[in-house]
Amino acid sequence: MYKNIFDSHAHYTDKAFNDDRENMLGSLKESGICGIINCGADLESSKESATLSAEYDFMYFACGIHPEEVDNLPSDYLDTLKALSKDKKCVAIGEIGLDYYWRQDTKDLQKELFEKQILLSKELDLPIIVHDREAHGDTMEILKKHRPKGVLHCFSGSPETAAEVLKLGMFIGLGGALTFKNARKAVEVAEMLPLDRLLLETDCPYMAPVPMRGKRNNSGYIPFIAEKVAEIKGIDPQSVLDVTTENTKKLFNIK
Ligand code: NI
Repeated sequence: MYKNIFDSHAHYTDKAFNDDRENMLGSLKESGICGIINCGADLESSKESATLSAEYDFMYFACGIHPEEVDNLPSDYLDTLKALSKDKKCVAIGEIGLDYYWRQDTKDLQKELFEKQILLSKELDLPIIVHDREAHGDTMEILKKHRPKGVLHCFSGSPETAAEVLKLGMFIGLGGALTFKNARKAVEVAEMLPLDRLLLETDCPYMAPVPMRGKRNNSGYIPFIAEKVAEIKGIDPQSVLDVTTENTKKLFNIK
């Protein structure tokens, strides 16, 4: 039985949890979960994340606009995010970034939105949670320009890109994809990554690790990811959980 498990990236405001959200979250502490960061993806889910995290002592949240949500933002969205960030459970701006897989059509708008939210995070002295899908070049260019604190969540880049992320002082988040059969790149990243720069995450309800692949994900599945990292690194899974929890608390300034 594992303990001291921190899920650095979850979406419990997703409708996939509408039927049993309270039961699910209520049971997590018994499964050894000590912390969760619930991530917003637009203004509505950011507000919902604030409300939900107020109900659970182990839950924190990030507020931000995901690149897929770049259309139809109200002109005062930065003010709304700023107001949300004053909540004592708000620990980051996220998730923010670039997604050229789903949205090839809005590259310039995405870059502008990403940079504005990075500047906000710097003004507020908060780390960022970065989403980068098929946009490694532009993501790295923007991160090098602004040098924010933060994590590249669900990292899908090469070991070479990971080395650049480390040079910037940022963290790398790995989740269920590391356990998939075709996870060659993620395994290589886990091999080269110093343990003190790794965060574990579910991105639930998506990305459930093997042997739960395809099911609805939840923070109770983090140990499957820790076991995979432990196998790659040749250490025991509880040590992986302990060090990644410490890393998460350090990055997000959680006492
Ligand atoms: Ni996410």
